[in-house]
Amino acid sequence: MIFADVVGSTALGERVDPETLRWAMQRWFGRMREVIERHGGTVEKFIGDAVMAVFGAPVLHEDDALRAVRAAAEMRKVGAVVGAELRRDRGLDFGVRIGVNTGQAVTGAGTVAGSFTSGDTVNVAARLEQAAGAGEILLGRETFRLVRHAIDAELVAPLTLKGKSAPVEAHRLLAVASDAPARAPRPRAPMVGRQRERRRVLDAFHQAVADRSCQLFTVLGVAGVGKSRLVQEVLETIDGAATVAVGRCLPYGDGLTWWPLAEALAAGDLLERAAADHGPAAARVAELLKPAGAPVAAEEAVWAVRKVLEVSARRHPLVLVVDDLQWAEPTFVELVEHVAEWTRDAPLLLLIMARPDLLESRPGWGGGQLNATTVLLEPLSETDARDLLGHLTGSALLEDRAAARILGLADGNPLFVEEVVAMLIDDNALSSCEGEGSGAAELTALAVPPTIQALIAARLDRLGPGERAVLEAASIEGRHFARERLETLVSDRASASVDVHLRALARKDLIRSVGAGEDSFRFRHQLIRDGAYDGMPKELRAELHERFANRLESRSSAVPVADELLGHHLERAVLLRRELGETEAATARLAARASRSLRSAGRRATLRDDPASVRLLERALALTPEDHRAPVLVELANALGDAGDLGRCAETAATALELAYANDDRQTAARARVVKLRVTMDRSTGEADQVSLNAAAKPVLDELEALGDDEGLAAVLLHLGHVNQDRYEQACAYLERAMAVAQRGGDRRTAAHAARFLGSIMVFGPVPAAEGIERCRALRRQFADQARTSATLLRHEAVLHAMQGRIEEARALHAEAVRAIDELGIPWLSASTVFGQWVLEMLAGAPERAEASARAGLALLQEMGATNQGSTAAAMLAYALAVQGCHDEALRSADLAAAWAAPDDASSQVPQLAARAHVLAARGELERAEAAAREAVRVSERSDELVQRGDALTDLAAVLARAGRPDEAATALRGAIGLYERKGNIVSVARAQQTLDSLGHKARVANA
Ligand SMILES: Nc1ncnc2c1ncn2[C@@H]1O[C@H](COP(=O)(O)OP(=O)(O)O)[C@@H](O)[C@H]1O
Ligand SMILES: [Mg+2]
Repeated sequence: MIFADVVGSTALGERVDPETLRWAMQRWFGRMREVIERHGGTVEKFIGDAVMAVFGAPVLHEDDALRAVRAAAEMRKVGAVVGAELRRDRGLDFGVRIGVNTGQAVTGAGTVAGSFTSGDTVNVAARLEQAAGAGEILLGRETFRLVRHAIDAELVAPLTLKGKSAPVEAHRLLAVASDAPARAPRPRAPMVGRQRERRRVLDAFHQAVADRSCQLFTVLGVAGVGKSRLVQEVLETIDGAATVAVGRCLPYGDGLTWWPLAEALAAGDLLERAAADHGPAAARVAELLKPAGAPVAAEEAVWAVRKVLEVSARRHPLVLVVDDLQWAEPTFVELVEHVAEWTRDAPLLLLIMARPDLLESRPGWGGGQLNATTVLLEPLSETDARDLLGHLTGSALLEDRAAARILGLADGNPLFVEEVVAMLIDDNALSSCEGEGSGAAELTALAVPPTIQALIAARLDRLGPGERAVLEAASIEGRHFARERLETLVSDRASASVDVHLRALARKDLIRSVGAGEDSFRFRHQLIRDGAYDGMPKELRAELHERFANRLESRSSAVPVADELLGHHLERAVLLRRELGETEAATARLAARASRSLRSAGRRATLRDDPASVRLLERALALTPEDHRAPVLVELANALGDAGDLGRCAETAATALELAYANDDRQTAARARVVKLRVTMDRSTGEADQVSLNAAAKPVLDELEALGDDEGLAAVLLHLGHVNQDRYEQACAYLERAMAVAQRGGDRRTAAHAARFLGSIMVFGPVPAAEGIERCRALRRQFADQARTSATLLRHEAVLHAMQGRIEEARALHAEAVRAIDELGIPWLSASTVFGQWVLEMLAGAPERAEASARAGLALLQEMGATNQGSTAAAMLAYALAVQGCHDEALRSADLAAAWAAPDDASSQVPQLAARAHVLAARGELERAEAAAREAVRVSERSDELVQRGDALTDLAAVLARAGRPDEAATALRGAIGLYERKGNIVSVARAQQTLDSLGHKARVANA
């Protein structure tokens, strides 16, 4: 409220011509009105020579007081100019005096005739104006309190006022800062306590820097206990000594596996800079983070992310902060663990915040790792909480009993303490000492809600309807929200004043702006966002979710929006409407949209091998009408299979098949049958299954071919490759076709899978080594951008070189491949490289080296509980030991292999039997030795693995030669040589030939 008057106008009226005076006054009023309106005020009325202006009516702004003071200051300036003009032109003497006051006033509707503004506030404003001297502006107490941060002023002697017993406080305005914010920000309390925790986080950081190592530091604690604040304090201390990247996991829209990482890497252009140091890794991460990027296989994703973090940290120490890890997708949690475990030679601090729920899903979090520390943030101590309360209330009065009650309810939760104080400030129940100190008495009567949620709800209840609407709409997006998107959500009436409300909400410290711009905000705490969201009626929530989704979609042509996000909002809208009793029919269209988004998110997750696909597809399914479910069920069944849940995979495929038949949907039926085949295959053992699987697959294959369904076709061909893996030529043919069909359909994942499998066939199958090398090379070129696939192909190629006698080259290539595979940080994958290494070293005639690699592999696989592959490692170890004459250990190892291996598992049975034959022969138990050797030959003959068959024959020959049966031995050797020659295994051919020659020599000597 402003009152402005022309000084000496009464005197003026006496000696100036009335017409001139009217002209002068009109001119003056006109200029004043301009100024007032420019600052958003309304000229309420002219009373004699005085102007009365109102700010905050009819539209309330949160900075009305400052607007009024700014207007007053400008009125004074303009008044002086007008005064000077009038003096010059008409010799008039004009001065202005102004009073400004703030408070409740009864107002009419703007300047419409008959409106009135009255009340105590008005009287005080008028009195201030009257007390002001020429060119002076006096501010009332409340106005001063509201604009204190933005002005220069001095206290004047209190004014006595008619009808008021107490004198009125007044301040003389000297200057207004031009760039002051609308309202003083609420002062943030300094950090209390937490000294020890701060030290520990800092220690972890310093250690990471000192050792160039990765440290995993986890801060656990309930909401509001101070995790974020602790981290923030530490980061301020670290300031500049490290790059800080922050990502948050979202409580909703599950399936957004990589969201926190995208957010973290976006800060500070980490990804762009990493691209200079490690292009391939950065490129993969970029794809991973794009909502519609190319799918990146799980192992590549994890590797690439670690590389990007590593190279970034090597440039400058890096702190990766992840908030609310309890909400992350399992794949992301595993990523964090992986990075913690595998990062080398890079100063990286993983600073994780989570609610204690994290331990429910990950009971062993960080456990047992030397570089991991977890602290549970306890409630503040009584003293610290009291300190905090003291800081927040500042010089205001708070009665002891009230303080005790607040602290008792807060129970050491600083958020609670803050919210209580904020509520008191909202209610004006706290007054500063500079005021009249009326707070203490009111406080005792104040009801403090007993829980943090109730407290927040109570604060939200105090908001004006416009502010509340804005806050609620903002909660739809989540803890962080953009003004731009918010605008489309609030009803048209409120949208005009979104900015005003946002500022008011910021002033009440419910939200804060993020960054420099005006567009990004966040709720000060997640619980505030939850309070705003939960406080809304379902109907409103449903409507807002739908509008938000529409808003996301309308932009999607330019910026791709994650399907997970879109699906989440649409899904919420449907489910809320159904909870309100709307029928499926009424929500059908919305449900179809939701289901489409979730399904496509689920498919993408499948392509990334992310088990999040299961949940996404289940959610899609729940929103799909019965007669459209079959195709979704097939996708779900596949996702379940990938996640290792064969039981549910089979059930789901069966349901899909039934539905597909009922709908006469041939394509879906065929795909469902492919999944069923896959389950049978994964559960199968033995030859009988192989026959029946082939028989079952054939009609499915034909059907898919007839339908021209590449996706289904590639899958079934890949399965057939697996089913027939010991009949190499057959398998090869299937895999070649699988690869071609998958490539044609753009399915790189299936194509790469087929390529890796083909690579192993080049080694173990009957393909001549030289041809195998060429084939591996070609495939490697084709999959150069896929680390796992190209490294796997390289290691197969290395073994083929060894067969051709280029041992050193083979060793170098193999070592390179192993390095690349180790880089991926997947233990079982690393362990599997020892098999090729064993073959290579046996070819090199270095059984001691072969022994070492088998031993290392066995230890790794044993630790992982992988007895299936472990049996092969044990058998290889047995063989390498036996040929070196370490008989006892060889037998022990052979026993282990026999115990673990399936009877028809040639890769384990052949070497373990051959090892026994060696030992037995050396011990003179020739009959048993021969039996073992013949059994090895028998098992090996079931496959066309030429080298293994040749080896079994060579070993038999050795037993026979020892038994003094050189002719039979020679026959066996000739058989072996024939097999080796077919394979192009020059080394083994030469070795067997040499044995044969010496046999012939011995035979001649014996005959002579
Ligand atoms: N030790 C402390 N000293 C002062 N204020 C604190 C302290 N810990 C937390 N706060 C304040 O309490 C509120 C809630 O803390 P916050 O760190 O957001 O909790 P959390 O992240 O655990 O949910 C924040 O406004 C924060 O500034
Ligand atoms: Mg937090």
